Amino acid sequence: MRIDIVSVLPELMESPLQHSIMKRAREKGLLEVHLHGLRAYGLGKHRQVDDYQYGGGAGMVMMAEPLANCIDDLQKERSYDEVIYMTPDGQRLTQPLANRLSMKENLLILCGHYKGMDERIREHYVTMEVSIGDFVLSGGELPAVVLVDAIGRLLPGVLNDETSALFDSFQDNLLAPPVYTRPEEFRGWTVPEVLLSGHEQKIEEWRYEQALKRTRERRPDLLEEE
Ligand code: ADE
Repeated sequence: MRIDIVSVLPELMESPLQHSIMKRAREKGLLEVHLHGLRAYGLGKHRQVDDYQYGGGAGMVMMAEPLANCIDDLQKERSYDEVIYMTPDGQRLTQPLANRLSMKENLLILCGHYKGMDERIREHYVTMEVSIGDFVLSGGELPAVVLVDAIGRLLPGVLNDETSALFDSFQDNLLAPPVYTRPEEFRGWTVPEVLLSGHEQKIEEWRYEQALKRTRERRPDLLEEE
């Protein structure tokens, strides 16, 4: 899979994409992420990318032209399955959405900044708008990294234990059960007996019951979603 990301602040995304699972996905050749600085498409000698909004009001708006030129250049190289704009008024990022996007070949992600981008780019280029939650961040860069991480870890071969993403919280509309590692006893606190029993079926049943219990207690809304 290939993901291109357009931003006025690409530096903000460099580090998270160079570590841990994202690093592994890229090194294994399963995920290519390319960052594109919008400033290179800025207008005039100041490489301007934003301007005051029509009608007045505080805050700058990302201009249509630099964005359109940048997207045009990228689209000359390949066609994108989705052109995604990260914005708090987009559809909420959920596990099913991450699953669906992980099956695409090429994604283009646009990061908003300032007051957002000129509406004409949303109308004429953007095919999907995604929010990572009902709160406002200062730009779309961190949300873009969140989206790339959620997608990248689902690509076959990225996680060591290929099945492990299947048992993540939310994959069955259930939260994940509790997990333990060595030692068996720590400060007098013990590990549930069943996990030490070696009885696979009983362990599965216990995990399922715990997942259900946890979901009922913390996120009953997930059980009603079916
Ligand atoms: N840009 C600013 N806030 C955002 C959010 N919550 N989700 C996606 N993009 C954003």
